[in-house]
Amino acid sequence: MAEISDSVKLMDTGKRNASERDRQTENSQLVGPAGLDIGTSNIVLAKMRSGAVQTVKQLNAFFAVPRSKFTGKVFAKNEIMYFARNGQFYIIGNSSDMFAATFNSSTRRPIEGGLLSPKEDEGVNVIAAIMKTMLPPPKKPGEVIAFSVPGEPVDTRISVLYHETVMKRTLEGMGYFPISVNEGLAVITAELSNDNYTGIGISMGGGMCNVCLAYMAVPILSYSIQKGGDYIDSMVGRTLGESQTKIKLIKEKELSLTREPRNRVETALQIFYDDLLLHLTQSLEQVLASSDKVPRFAKPVPLVISGGGALANGLKERFERALKNVSLPVQISSVRIAEDPLNSTAKGALYMALSEES
Ligand SMILES: Nc1ncnc2c1ncn2[C@@H]1O[C@H](COP(=O)(O)OP(=O)(O)OP(=O)(O)O)[C@@H](O)[C@H]1O
Ligand SMILES: [Mg+2]
Repeated sequence: MAEISDSVKLMDTGKRNASERDRQTENSQLVGPAGLDIGTSNIVLAKMRSGAVQTVKQLNAFFAVPRSKFTGKVFAKNEIMYFARNGQFYIIGNSSDMFAATFNSSTRRPIEGGLLSPKEDEGVNVIAAIMKTMLPPPKKPGEVIAFSVPGEPVDTRISVLYHETVMKRTLEGMGYFPISVNEGLAVITAELSNDNYTGIGISMGGGMCNVCLAYMAVPILSYSIQKGGDYIDSMVGRTLGESQTKIKLIKEKELSLTREPRNRVETALQIFYDDLLLHLTQSLEQVLASSDKVPRFAKPVPLVISGGGALANGLKERFERALKNVSLPVQISSVRIAEDPLNSTAKGALYMALSEES
């Protein structure tokens, strides 16, 4: 990992505005515990600054191009984030998207379905390089960093152990004292402070949906399904013969789940969103029903949904509709959307790191 740390160019893309630059500079001076959400689509870092939570985000993606000294000079001039390895330049994070679009191609992902991708040999190095652009070495060695890990997937036979251990070692190599935090529990920590950290937290991410049931911040059960926003994009793309990238863009910018679809892309997006919600609510029914750990709550508990998937207009109503078709051993008082869905996991992880420190 050392050779990469030396060669990572810690730069912003030329398109970043002044306030983003200021934030990056401030961030490089920060000390204290941190929360890190290492997701399929994004890596988000949360830290405290002047009593408020501050977050920074990078795409968890890369784009490889042939290495040349001349290209390196051009990249440096244009503030492109990259590292060099094996005759290639790996353009990383937010910089990679612009390249993929210009080359009429797609970015590659170090994480697939929430876990380290078996397809990408350089995946760990890419993640380490992206983290180094956001996370300077700790001022105090052994600074606590809480990082998110998915629950065990219930719909595949993959274990999270390898992913969790490799991420932990990577952060240790950067000088931190890493502790892993279940993603669903992090959502509960960030969103259910007024409910005594009791209820169900769900993160609808790019590669998976993570679920946790907790009582007073004690996780009772947690799990994941390996379906998320990427599943919707890929199924709609395949069904209609369109690129996944184009579908993702339409989903993020134009989709509303509250109105009648206006065209075949919106029709397919609604169909596969509903399919994901069906899978998610049915998994909740099955996991809760088959567990002997579910307590008898004195009163109904809230269910909070976060992650990028929760940003779709009308998601709450759609989720409530799907929930009516299943029978849960826990009564739900209300379905809520997280205050800041893309940052909940990192914020929750930060709160955990802060309490470890104290
Ligand atoms: N406005 C939006 N409407 C619908 N989906 C959105 C919107 N904005 C982002 N998304 C989707 O959210 C997903 C990314 O969310 P998030 O950053 O929470 O995932 P992640 O944490 O990186 O992934 P995971 O938790 O699965 O490993 C992508 O599928 C993206 O397309
Ligand atoms: Mg996530």
